[in-house]
Amino acid sequence: MLEVKNISKVFAKGTVNEHVAIKNMSLSLEDGEFVTVVGSNGAGKSTLFNAICGSFLVDSGHIFLDNEEITYKSEHARAKMIGRVFQDPMRGTAPNMTIEENLALAYTRSQKHSLPFSRALTKKKAEFFRENLARYNMGIEDRMKTKIGLLSGGQRQVVTLLMCTLSIPKLLLLDEHTAALDPATAKRVMEITKQIVSENNITTMMITHNLNQSLNTGSRTIMLDSGEIILDLSGKERENMTIDDMIKMYSAKKQKEFDNDRILLSRD
Ligand SMILES: Nc1ncnc2c1ncn2[C@@H]1O[C@H](COP(=O)(O)OP(=O)(O)O)[C@@H](O)[C@H]1O
Ligand SMILES: [Mg+2]
Repeated sequence: MLEVKNISKVFAKGTVNEHVAIKNMSLSLEDGEFVTVVGSNGAGKSTLFNAICGSFLVDSGHIFLDNEEITYKSEHARAKMIGRVFQDPMRGTAPNMTIEENLALAYTRSQKHSLPFSRALTKKKAEFFRENLARYNMGIEDRMKTKIGLLSGGQRQVVTLLMCTLSIPKLLLLDEHTAALDPATAKRVMEITKQIVSENNITTMMITHNLNQSLNTGSRTIMLDSGEIILDLSGKERENMTIDDMIKMYSAKKQKEFDNDRILLSRD
């Protein structure tokens, strides 16, 4: 379970560029909860993920994962517990290493007490990785010795997802991980994402700019605006929610129009 308590993050403090990216934010996730995160450009979505992952220390507040305080832990230490997939398929993998080498490295890193010899890519491990990839019908399993940089964007996102989940993370953070893919591939990667998350009951947060997807994926949706959570929808309220309702709720709360520059209002 994730517990974020009153965290704040100010960039360029004390300068003319001072910017409050996260404002005294609190958020609590149940074990196995799948939360979608929406909000216009610059709302603070990625900054929230960075705060949870330890890309920087928050200015105030506390973060707990599975009842353990991680507020002051290094990004490296948190990476053993938190999996993250970015929008850019080039991020998070070593492009000059093969698929199986990338998986072996990620698998070793995720182990709590990794011994030097466990780094070895044994036949057994390679077969385990291959079988796992074969399940997703993305044509990756026959390219295990191919450099990962040569895969398509969709294939890379699936390998990255698998790298994050071979050993089950306490939390999985997906930052618009299908946004750079063509529609058909994005759809397939979303299906695979849902499958991996539900089979392993992984506590997950997924940023998306597709409002429809935000309501149709997972069991809860939060909307961020100017570093604050302004909507938190679940249960019946969420089931009955339409995109139009969501935008109306936003306008009522903020007394301004919803900035939908980059937000997809499509119903697909
Ligand atoms: N490292 C940084 N230094 C300065 N400003 C930042 C930094 N990271 C994010 N910001 C600012 O914080 C705000 C929130 O950014 P971000 O969390 O990336 O938004 P988004 O919701 O689009 O993911 C933006 O105004 C952004 O410019
Ligand atoms: Mg972002």
